[in-house]
Amino acid sequence: MSTIPSITLNNGTRIPQLGFGVWQVEDDAAEAAVRTAIEAGYRSIDTAAIYENETGTGRGIATAGVPREELYITTKLWNSGTKDWSGPQGQDAVLREFDASLAKLGLDYVDLYLIHWPRPMHGSFGNIWSAFEKLAADGRARAVGVSNFGPAQLDALREQSGLVPVLNQVELHPYFPQDELRAYHAEHGIATEAWSPLGQGKTLLGEPALVQVAEKHGRTPAQVVLRWHLQRGVIAIPKSVTPSRIRENIDVLGFELDEADLSALAGLATGERIGPDPQGFDWN
Ligand SMILES: NC(=O)c1ccc[n+]([C@@H]2O[C@H](COP(=O)([O-])OP(=O)(O)OC[C@H]3O[C@@H](n4cnc5c(N)ncnc54)[C@H](OP(=O)(O)O)[C@@H]3O)[C@@H](O)[C@H]2O)c1
Repeated sequence: MSTIPSITLNNGTRIPQLGFGVWQVEDDAAEAAVRTAIEAGYRSIDTAAIYENETGTGRGIATAGVPREELYITTKLWNSGTKDWSGPQGQDAVLREFDASLAKLGLDYVDLYLIHWPRPMHGSFGNIWSAFEKLAADGRARAVGVSNFGPAQLDALREQSGLVPVLNQVELHPYFPQDELRAYHAEHGIATEAWSPLGQGKTLLGEPALVQVAEKHGRTPAQVVLRWHLQRGVIAIPKSVTPSRIRENIDVLGFELDEADLSALAGLATGERIGPDPQGFDWN
């Protein structure tokens, strides 16, 4: 496990560059999936309140037999539109949501807490971030960050607060490499974390150019894509409930992509997202 590289975040903490995502894993399947992942060597787990599997994830963490301090646990605030997030009551609501997540996970702190979506059509998320500042100061969230934010929302946060998000978790895979946003992040000391790093395991993994690179290295297309993320300095959190794939996806350290490989993968960029565009997306 110690061979998985890690990235130092802007608050001095470190995050493993490869983690395990559990979106769309049923709560009663999450325990086994998370335990299998930890046994395979993953030390970072990415869940969220809205995944409704924090309880199973927590069970997997508890039964895997690895000391808590060796694990890196991320969860996310579901800043749902059915609640009022403005004013002081908004901050209390965040703290209640956070407490509920911790209780489900069976933990007394998380390593990373994220605002799940920016929802710019609803205006400021300033009160939410104030609560995040409190959680970071208390140490109950060792680091705080955001997800699906664009430069406009990141600028707004930087204007309001001295606390810069440690990372922004966004859709990112060879079809949608997010080079502009990565450049913005680099400029402002924000790490980039890729969701759907395998393009959700769909057409991407069958792309002939990718398959060719995989054959050249005697690796699978998924391993090549994860290697691509690591070499670009991006944190990746692939999901699988299939034990052989869980192990396959962490076995990405014994080879290196060269310039020709990287340019073959660059040729896959379409600029098309798989998921919704966070700038126009609301879920209410
Ligand atoms: N912040 C956000 O808004 C947001 C949004 C989406 C996702 N996420 C996070 O990012 C994580 C990963 O994203 P994702 O789950 O959307 O997609 P992903 O990790 O890109 O792909 C997962 C899919 O690929 C399949 N797969 C996994 N490994 C494979 C392999 N080696 N070969 C072939 N197929 C493989 C999985 O199937 P099986 O499970 O059947 O093996 C699953 O259907 C999520 O779990 C979640 O933690 C965050």
